[in-house]
Amino acid sequence: MQRLQKLMARAGVGSRRKCEQFIREGRVSVNGEVVTKLGARAKPDDDIRVDGRPISLPTDHVYLLLNKPPGYVTTRSDPHGRPTVMELLPAKLRRRVYPVGRLDEDTSGLLLFTDDGELTQRLTHPSYHVPREYVADVEGTPSESALRKLRSGVRLEGGRAQPAEAQLLHTGEGESRLRIVLHEGRNRQVRRMCAAIGYPVRRLRRVAMGPLRLGELSLGEVVPLRRAQIAALRQAVMLPPEDHDQPG
Ligand code: URA
Repeated sequence: MQRLQKLMARAGVGSRRKCEQFIREGRVSVNGEVVTKLGARAKPDDDIRVDGRPISLPTDHVYLLLNKPPGYVTTRSDPHGRPTVMELLPAKLRRRVYPVGRLDEDTSGLLLFTDDGELTQRLTHPSYHVPREYVADVEGTPSESALRKLRSGVRLEGGRAQPAEAQLLHTGEGESRLRIVLHEGRNRQVRRMCAAIGYPVRRLRRVAMGPLRLGELSLGEVVPLRRAQIAALRQAVMLPPEDHDQPG
């Protein structure tokens, strides 16, 4: 635990004196509660906000969340000259980070970038079973028995898929929206699973990876992860939080 104004100053909100003034003015909240006492303490992973905006403490590593638009390939450089996801990142961070896992060129949604090798290794290793959640628009209306096949594990080239969560979210004109959660990440897996039960995917979006959710990001938008999000991701693969606490 550290004094709130010290954490705020480390996040670049302003000098300690300025931060104390913000606290006294009732502009600072910790985990949803406005704090006006100057002696208050908080942890770096608490949700600390100034005027409703989360503060962002520096971390050793870089973690970026992108809402990938369709039409970009997930690679650092493409020999065929197609647009890559790297082009969507701020130029000064592009050289430092790499994508965690892959989304197909025509898939949109949550893509994480980092230079934290240990986290990447665990998030992409099948033994950690980090769930990936997708929203898939498919042709037609899958029956309950078709969805049951996804839940029990459809047969794919290269071996049976592990059981997935599958729910019909809604159905409209000639297509339906499914929520599908996978615990493994094989090539074009959602598309192949849906094709295997007879309902080809028209649009595919990843909305979550473990505890990390895409939220309200617009297509092409990139944001740094907040400390609480980094801590939750690391915890999901049994890594301790990054420790930046300084004495006092
Ligand atoms: N499954 C797919 O079919 N494509 C993706 O991009 C991700 C999961």
